[in-house]
Amino acid sequence: MDKKLLIKKALEAKEKAYAPYSKFRVGAAILTRTGKIYTGCNIENASYTPTICAERTAIAKAVSEGERDIVAIAVTGDSKWTYPCGVCRQVIREFGKDAIVIIVNTEDEYKEYKLSELLPHSFGPEDLNN
Ligand code: THU
Repeated sequence: MDKKLLIKKALEAKEKAYAPYSKFRVGAAILTRTGKIYTGCNIENASYTPTICAERTAIAKAVSEGERDIVAIAVTGDSKWTYPCGVCRQVIREFGKDAIVIIVNTEDEYKEYKLSELLPHSFGPEDLNN
């Protein structure tokens, strides 16, 4: 996996954030099983609740292109360590039970987790297959 590239893409994606209300920018980049990278930024709305997080923007782009298998996701925001919100953790879970989550401060400073560490005892698609 080209971790450095994924991190760079997340940092670049943050620059595209549309966050005029919170002024908190977030960027994400996901690597899919086919080796492609999809990026996303947070997109806010004057009505507030329609806001979409960077992670879910990237996942929506990937899934709408037929990609359903997330290998890794890099996330970066305007705090030193920006972790995915609970909703995004659940959406990553849907397509990446074993995904690696890379929390990025700078190109050279990042932390790595398994999704299962950030979302233990998770509920997922398999639970419905009884
Ligand atoms: N945000 C994300 O994009 N991803 C997260 O996981 C945390 C929160 C965005 C949503 C909103 O635009 C801004 O950060 C402040 O909450």
